[in-house]
Amino acid sequence: MGAMAHTSALVRALNGDRPEVAPVWFMRQAGRSLPEYRELRVGTRMLDACLTPDLAAEITLQPVRRHGVDAGIFFSDIVVPLRLAGVEVEIEPGRGPVFAAPIRTADDVARLTAIDPAEVAAAAEPIREAVRLTVAELGETPLIGFAGAPFTLAAYLVEGGPSKEHLRARAMMHADPDSWHRLAGWLAQVSRAFLGAQIDAGVQAVQLFDSWAGSLAPAAFRAFIAPHSTAAVTDLPVPVIHFGVGTGPFLADMRLGGVASAVGVDWRLPLDEAAAIVGPDVTLQGNIDPALVGAPWPVLEAHVRDVLRRGRAARAHIVNLGHGVPPETDPAVLTRIVELVHADGE
Ligand code: CP3
Repeated sequence: MGAMAHTSALVRALNGDRPEVAPVWFMRQAGRSLPEYRELRVGTRMLDACLTPDLAAEITLQPVRRHGVDAGIFFSDIVVPLRLAGVEVEIEPGRGPVFAAPIRTADDVARLTAIDPAEVAAAAEPIREAVRLTVAELGETPLIGFAGAPFTLAAYLVEGGPSKEHLRARAMMHADPDSWHRLAGWLAQVSRAFLGAQIDAGVQAVQLFDSWAGSLAPAAFRAFIAPHSTAAVTDLPVPVIHFGVGTGPFLADMRLGGVASAVGVDWRLPLDEAAAIVGPDVTLQGNIDPALVGAPWPVLEAHVRDVLRRGRAARAHIVNLGHGVPPETDPAVLTRIVELVHADGE
């Protein structure tokens, strides 16, 4: 059967056509919970690995082979397009993205945003090559591409590195809204260029990660974030999943006015309650509590069954954790979750 004739469970769920068995994949499935990943990464820095096509492709494929998940998530990072734009950034192990020069003043913003976002598309050949290699190996299993949302990227850029409450980025939007909108508008174009490269090369869906959006007041999300996140993903030729942590207070806004085919939900909000908030024309993704992945199997099994049951309230359900796989996770547990989800519909 040719790839075109087959519509994957993931894409069907995104289109609102509920498959008999819910598709399942895991955020951060490619990465530190896998010994074969740690082995491959020895001696290579994170961002160098992302820009080495055969390595990025192999790391993307590892969890698909091991767990039998219904999608691959492209191995890369939200800061890769910034590196491609010439911004000095590294990922420090155990910490996260760190920038040589934080973007804090109106002058900083003006200098950064003078870079043409088209530079990203031009420099993205290693990304296109990695996606092409991966898609060729995956066969009928779809590949999900991704990018960081403007706020989550700004939370790192303005601070200069990881922070708990993202105070500097949240202050900038109120104190200097012109600079904020300029920065967020530029980040939206940069992420859109990164998504475009992945789509050109064959990803079947994309996820916009606004991991830290939950630190925002709903009014700030609406005024300062949603228009830019919408610009990053509007009118793409593939379906969009929009994910954030702690977004319960403004979950309906996470639909981005209907541009998102699916909204990701963290572990705090039961999926039946989330479905009542977002309405019948959007798919939900989530929301196994990452803390329970380390619990005794009977406890985790009961929780996964509860997630599946509540997920039936949505127009369609893509099973995932409420956030990324914790690094210390026993990979065998993830495989067992996939088996449980796949057995549920039969
Ligand atoms: O498996 C996958 O999900 C695909 C690859 C992926 C990575 N990062 C690889 C990675 C994806 C989708 C991301 C997105 C990402 N990167 C986000 C949004 C997702 C989320 O978890 O909320 C964020 C906030 C980042 C920024 C970032 N990069 C952080 C906070 C870290 C963790 C730092 C650490 O080591 O604890 C990274 C590094 C990173 N990105 C790793 C991986 C596999 C670990 C690097 C390593 O193995 O040394």
